[in-house]
Amino acid sequence: MIARKRADIAWRDIAFGLRVCLWPTPPRPDGFCDEESLVCLSVRSGFDMLWSALAWPAGSEVLVSAITIPDIPRIIRHHELVPVPVDLDIATLTVDADALRRAITPRTKAILVAHLYGSRMAMEPVLAVAREHGLLVIEDCAQAFTGQDFKGHPESDVRMFSFGPIKTATAFGGGVLFVRDRALRAKMATLQATYPQQGRREFFRRVLMFSLFMLALAPAPYAAVIFFFRLIGRNHDEIVTGAGRSFGGPDFFQKIRRQPSLPLRLLLSRRLRTYPADRVQQRAAAGREVCAALPQGMVLGCRAAQHTFWLFPIVSHAPEALMQRLWHGGFDAARGSTSLCAVDPPPDRPETLPSASQAALANVLYLPVYAAMKSVDLQRLGRLVSRFETENSGGAEMAPGRVPFTASR
Ligand SMILES: Cc1ncc(COP(=O)(O)O)c(C=O)c1O
Repeated sequence: MIARKRADIAWRDIAFGLRVCLWPTPPRPDGFCDEESLVCLSVRSGFDMLWSALAWPAGSEVLVSAITIPDIPRIIRHHELVPVPVDLDIATLTVDADALRRAITPRTKAILVAHLYGSRMAMEPVLAVAREHGLLVIEDCAQAFTGQDFKGHPESDVRMFSFGPIKTATAFGGGVLFVRDRALRAKMATLQATYPQQGRREFFRRVLMFSLFMLALAPAPYAAVIFFFRLIGRNHDEIVTGAGRSFGGPDFFQKIRRQPSLPLRLLLSRRLRTYPADRVQQRAAAGREVCAALPQGMVLGCRAAQHTFWLFPIVSHAPEALMQRLWHGGFDAARGSTSLCAVDPPPDRPETLPSASQAALANVLYLPVYAAMKSVDLQRLGRLVSRFETENSGGAEMAPGRVPFTASR
């Protein structure tokens, strides 16, 4: 069975992570962080600190590109602010400047956009709208890290990168926020300094746990893991999706309001310093190969100007049945139904319902597509999906077609 995802980390990085839990080394510059950056326990930790530091009046609105993780609107609401979704163009995974303008009210104070699944949307139109209305721009790059070459748009007020367990260049945690405004950054840093620290022992356990998870994702053990869950009547899709998640269970805000431990900082710094420049390009090439074999328009973001396929989401006519078919074919496709969501509109603004995003997520299926997969498997995956969709859509618009992706750099 080809697992849905490979953790993007080498065993020598893991060995380093474990070693610095016991014998920390002096910190070294990593070439990514700079005088504008703040290293946090996670993006969610930094995002929560941002709202605490801004302390905006209750009821202030934040326009949010409609697809994100559920914790993002949760954190906004926790600060008594109102997330207002702005629907996405599903083919490009971008928000339209006019749609942003239409969603603005006198209460709007910020725009938050997320680059999704490894794609990148152009920030200039977003920044132009923000300038017209004096709004803060937050650029969520949690799914868009490609290496030292990309730190978000320099004019975005806040840019956020995540290094959680399933992210590119993972350090099994950690988030880097770039904050342009010096006073705001200082406020956030001061707040973070009051938080308790993640324990070294806790980070050691975390590295060990995710290393086991990594081992389990190799083809032979993974097939055994799935067999075991089926035997005990459990859905492995939910369990594996859940295993890659941080901060589950109760006391969410207590869990995110902590400082990163020194070993986490050191591992993150090493990942940033040594991350191979061509790694993401290989993943993008695998993604383009499968795209070319699939019916046109089936891939979320198929017309994105830049895409590196951190995840490979497709919209299917029958996602559940296709997932079963792919499992039988040896590919661990995932519904991942709880990891990304369409943001709900505020009760008094039903017109902002993001229907295109909702419809896409209702039928989404994530395919295993990554650089370590052989071309023969990528091709077979493309054929299996194409054949299934042709059989299940009455044959309409199912001719395989090439999608005009460009390289990410
Ligand atoms: C779009 C997006 N934003 C924010 C986050 C949160 O990142 P972290 O896990 O570092 O809190 C994620 C994590 O999956 C994400 O996908």
